[in-house]
Amino acid sequence: MRYTAGAVELPVGVFVLLRDLIRDRIGVSFDDDKRDLLASKLADRLGDLGLKSFLDYFYLLRYGTGAEAEWPRLTDALSVQETYFWREFDQVRALVEVLVPQHVAAGRGPVRVWSAACATGEEPLSIAMALAEAGWFRRAEIEVVASDVSPAALEKARSGVYRERSFRALPPALREKYFEPVSGGWRVDPDLHARVRFVAANLLEPADTAPLACSPFVFCRNVFIYFSTATVARVVQHFAERMPRPGYLFPGVSESLLRATTAFQLEEVGSAFVYVNR
Ligand SMILES: C[S@@+](CC[C@H](N)C(=O)[O-])C[C@H]1O[C@@H](n2cnc3c(N)ncnc32)[C@H](O)[C@@H]1O
Repeated sequence: MRYTAGAVELPVGVFVLLRDLIRDRIGVSFDDDKRDLLASKLADRLGDLGLKSFLDYFYLLRYGTGAEAEWPRLTDALSVQETYFWREFDQVRALVEVLVPQHVAAGRGPVRVWSAACATGEEPLSIAMALAEAGWFRRAEIEVVASDVSPAALEKARSGVYRERSFRALPPALREKYFEPVSGGWRVDPDLHARVRFVAANLLEPADTAPLACSPFVFCRNVFIYFSTATVARVVQHFAERMPRPGYLFPGVSESLLRATTAFQLEEVGSAFVYVNR
C-alpha cells in the first residue's frame, strides 16, 4: 500500500492529524487501515487547490483563511450518497400506519418528521409519498424537513431529478404516479417535492440540529455507520435531550445504537424496530 493521492504521499502522522480534524468537524471517521481511502478521496481537493502535500491541506483546513470555503468541498468529497426510494421501507410503514395515527389520535400537535441525513432526497420523498398515499396531508398538519451536511447532495435533492438507480425498490405504480420522464432522468411531482423542506445541517453542530431535533419522528439512517461509537453517542444524546417524549428515532436497520446510548428504548412497531425516547 502506498498511501498516495497521485504522486503525493499521505504520511501516517499527517493522516492522523487530518482524520481527527475531519472526525471532530463532520463525524466521518477513518480507521487506521483506511489511510489509502482517505488519500484517494482527498486527491482532487489537493489537485484543485494546487497543493503539494497533505500537510499543506491540513494547515489550510486548520488555520487557513480559506478554511470555511474549503470545508463544504471537503464534505462533498467525503459524502457517500448511496440511497434510493422505498429503502428499508418497513420503518416508513410503521411511521405511516402506526405512529402517525397514534400521534394524531393523542392530539400531540403537528406531525413533524425530520430526515437527518437525507443525501439526495429519496428518503424524505419516500416518507412524503407514503404519507400522501395514506391521505395524511388532508387529515393532519404535516411537516417533513430534510437535511444533510453535503451542499452537493442538497443541490441534487432540490433539483428533484432522479436516475434509474434511485428507483430500484419503488413500486412501479408509484413511479408512474409521482414522476415524469425528463432529459437526464425522472422529475418528481412538484406538489410532492414541495412537501419536503430541504435545509443544510451538520449532525455535529448543535446550533444546526437543535431546531430540527425537536421533531417527534427522526430518521437518521445509514450515516452512523461512518461515525465512531463516541460520535454516535454524542449525536444520539443530543437527540434525546431535544426530542419530545414519546419521540421515535429510526437509525438504519444495520445500525444498532445499543452500544452508544441507554437514553432510548428499542421497541418493535409493526414490522420495524424503533428507538423510543420515553
Ligand atoms: C448513505 S447516505 C444516507 C441517505 C439516507 N438516509 C438513506 O438511508 O438512504 C449518508 C449521508 O450522510 C451525510 N452525512 C455525513 N456526515 C454527516 C453529518 N455530520 N451531518 C449530516 N449529514 C451527514 C452524507 O453527506 C450522506 O449524504
